[in-house]
Amino acid sequence: MGQSPTINVWMSHGDVIERLASADIIGYTRNTPVAAFRIPNIYGVQFHPEVHHTEKGDKILWNFLYKICGCERNWTVESFVRDKIEEIKREVGSDGRVVCGLSGGIDSSTTALLVNKAIGDRLTCIFVDNGLLRKGEKEEVLNTFEDNFKMRMVFVDAKERFLNGLRGVKDAEAKRKIIGEQFINIFEEEASKLGNVDFLAQGTIYPDRIESARARSGGVASRIKSHHNVGALPEKLGLKLIEPIKDLYKDEVREVAKELDMPPQILNQHPFPGPGLAARVIGEVTGDKLRICREASRIIEEELKRSGWYDKVWQAFAIVGDDVATGVLGDARSLGRIVTIRVVESREAMTADFVKLPYVVLESMSKRITNEVKGVTWVTYATSSKPPSTIEPC
Ligand code: XMP
Repeated sequence: MGQSPTINVWMSHGDVIERLASADIIGYTRNTPVAAFRIPNIYGVQFHPEVHHTEKGDKILWNFLYKICGCERNWTVESFVRDKIEEIKREVGSDGRVVCGLSGGIDSSTTALLVNKAIGDRLTCIFVDNGLLRKGEKEEVLNTFEDNFKMRMVFVDAKERFLNGLRGVKDAEAKRKIIGEQFINIFEEEASKLGNVDFLAQGTIYPDRIESARARSGGVASRIKSHHNVGALPEKLGLKLIEPIKDLYKDEVREVAKELDMPPQILNQHPFPGPGLAARVIGEVTGDKLRICREASRIIEEELKRSGWYDKVWQAFAIVGDDVATGVLGDARSLGRIVTIRVVESREAMTADFVKLPYVVLESMSKRITNEVKGVTWVTYATSSKPPSTIEPC
């Protein structure tokens, strides 16, 4: 329906139907003996209509839902917000109390706002500065939620604690684990100081659930990165879980956030991983590497905004490792760090392409980084896509 006779699609060769009783096999690939089949009036085709690389995947899904299955389009952002607020009110009851870990990212911010709309100051948000935040992030979060939305907040300065815990640790997964454990411990301490709390609100979104399900079933995702390092929280704290945006994709979360009057700097910011800048510092996380990563990332973001590229890309940041290269400072040669710029476009972070930025934009980023960030001599651009690379370097 409205499609050309041939289209390019992506399919996973990890999942294979080997045999199918009583069906006509009408398509196969080199690796998949049954890629398409027909049982009278029912057709089955194996491919991924949802991935960005499948041509017109959206249209295929649209046709399937509305023209074949006869679904009705009765979901709106306004109705979602209205219904969720009512649902949270019912669930929490008239005197229940909720605690929420606020990171300043779009998911936890949207969750906190929804719960706040439902139960006001019976919600307390805990915001932990782990020393791995972006430049200006702490001020922005406190300003937005405490001053602007007048929400009840507990702020914890745990920079030293995290950095001490990470001292000497080079392995990416070990860093993730330490950060996750530290967060759980701090959260537990702060939540227990609050007294009677019954619920924990979490900004889980739909892709998180897919990734954790895969990880639990021992799939590939579990061997790539353990993203969901705070999953143990509700059990440890003995709290009931509220996950108001668990059925939404990121773009839908943004729509909901807009409806809730989220300020543009939070609404439009790029996703930021739970382990923060530690995911962008290769090897040991030190104060110096963090400083370089934070300042260079700010320059990258500023230059993208100035050139109109910020809103067109999925994520953009600096990466710092232990490699050094020679530079010239005055008349002398000196060793300095190498900063790698990473800018990717993506729909849901499952796949991603590096962005073909104009050289002038790269040039101004590069010049500013070597001029303004002390200790950097070289700047490189990451030209790898996902797969085979991941978005974050560790
Ligand atoms: P990768 O690097 O796996 O990233 O291609 C995919 C998306 O997930 C984010 N990311 C994380 N988010 N905890 C998080 O909450 C993590 O440990 C983590 N690692 C990566 C990454 O920023 C990208 O958007």
